[in-house]
Amino acid sequence: PVLVVDFGAQYAQLIARRVREANVYSEIVPHTVTAAEVAAKRPSGIVLSGGPSSVYEEGAPQLDEAILDLGVPVLGICYGFQVMATALGGEVAKTGQREYGSTAVRISDSGVLLEGQPAEQTAWMSHGDSVARAPEGFDVLASTDGTPVAAFANDERKLYGVQWHPEVKHSAYGQAVLENFLHRAAGIPADWNSGNVIADQVAAIRAQVGSGRVICALSGGVDSAVAAALVHEAVGDQLVCVFVDHGLLRKDEARQVEEDYVTATGVRLVTVNAQKQFLDALSGVSDPETKRKIIGREFIRVFEKAQADLIAEAASEGDPIRFLVQGTLYPDVVESGGGTGTANIKSHHNVGGLPEDLQFELVEPLRTLFKDEVRAIGRELGLPEAIVSRQPFPGPGLGIRIVGEVTQERLDLLRDADAIVRAELTAAGLDAEIWQCPVVLLADVRSVGVQGDGRTYGHPIVLRPVSSEDAMTADWTRLPYDLLAKISNRITNEVDGVNRVVLDVTSKPPGTIEWE
Ligand code: XMP
Repeated sequence: PVLVVDFGAQYAQLIARRVREANVYSEIVPHTVTAAEVAAKRPSGIVLSGGPSSVYEEGAPQLDEAILDLGVPVLGICYGFQVMATALGGEVAKTGQREYGSTAVRISDSGVLLEGQPAEQTAWMSHGDSVARAPEGFDVLASTDGTPVAAFANDERKLYGVQWHPEVKHSAYGQAVLENFLHRAAGIPADWNSGNVIADQVAAIRAQVGSGRVICALSGGVDSAVAAALVHEAVGDQLVCVFVDHGLLRKDEARQVEEDYVTATGVRLVTVNAQKQFLDALSGVSDPETKRKIIGREFIRVFEKAQADLIAEAASEGDPIRFLVQGTLYPDVVESGGGTGTANIKSHHNVGGLPEDLQFELVEPLRTLFKDEVRAIGRELGLPEAIVSRQPFPGPGLGIRIVGEVTQERLDLLRDADAIVRAELTAAGLDAEIWQCPVVLLADVRSVGVQGDGRTYGHPIVLRPVSSEDAMTADWTRLPYDLLAKISNRITNEVDGVNRVVLDVTSKPPGTIEWE
């Protein structure tokens, strides 16, 4: 792999993704990694990320300098560039001239790294310190008004660095810098793609699972759907999927899983229709936290019952279920410290008749992948686009999008309004631009309206379109007025009981994305 050394901030994940866009597999390692640990991974290249610190700061993240002597090609970016300069005997100075944002870069000597690039270009910068003198044996390739040394190279040792951020889209030739480093300087072939990932994962799953039986809970979301499809590709009917239909899903979702998904993959699916159980449990409840707790509790009950039935069935055939599929993604793995992937989880032990110490071994075929890669694999495996490109949808579903008590009638109404919004956003080609658009029914609020010849006293529907990178922060999406008008018209005309559509114009913070 190419190792991306993480010096903090959010740059490392972006770099890792860009490297993969160049069809080279990448992994993120913390900056505390030792040269021996790096060598053990036998990397074909190393990228040192940017970071928020100054190399002069007390406690600034360090690099084991022996990493630069392993004979592995290295590209330093921003802070990583300065760390390299310092380690190799160059000079980093506080010039007092901060460069931030789009900056003009002049290339004096393209070398291999900047080959094929225009002599003048703009690139994205964000730094206070600058490399004042390149280390001995290094050629200076570029400069800016504020930085005499904006890029350097030592072809013999295959060590390279740039002050700007090639991973950022604002750097016009950024991806080309990365590709020159990977393919030309380091000589790494562009041969990592979703086809290979599938082949590798299928082999790995077979090796892990052998002839064992596997269970997977399908949520209707992308991750569990792709994880299960991969496992099914590997071990066929050794896999059983369980799908709990709690009645809080959006229009057509249950059918998509039960029909389209099964048709596309051939997985063995057990659907548990628990609509009545959830509605009964939610009856009379309007407090959001209480609703969430009830939905979570009922979900575990239903899933465990289904699981127990399957385990009993398998055991009676002398072939216990030993594995559980989880759709864990790479960002979760990186953020939780990059665990080893062999975790055993204890099954919930309140399942009637199960041994206390029953353990599942986890199968996590997506733990090296980013979300966009998971989607690409889903497409490659032939999953329907409606499943592959689905936007995030909370586990408690429409239950937390009805402000007030959840009833069958309100669910049906909200499902209709939500379906209209989704259809119109898709028709307008805006699915890729918005992160998600919760549609909320204010069931406890009524307002006066006039429809046809008469007065109405109906409920408002709230549109909550948001743009976001990761759901931690979000901004409300400025949807075109014409589109909003069309959505509003359709909902008030087509959905009985709704006489008003309102738009939520709150960012997060202070508002959360969901209303409850
Ligand atoms: P909030 O409302 O906290 O939501 O801004 C952030 C993101 O998380 C989703 N969300 C959930 N997802 N179970 C989930 O799986 C939940 O209980 C849950 N609550 C919120 C929400 O849709 C948004 O993408």
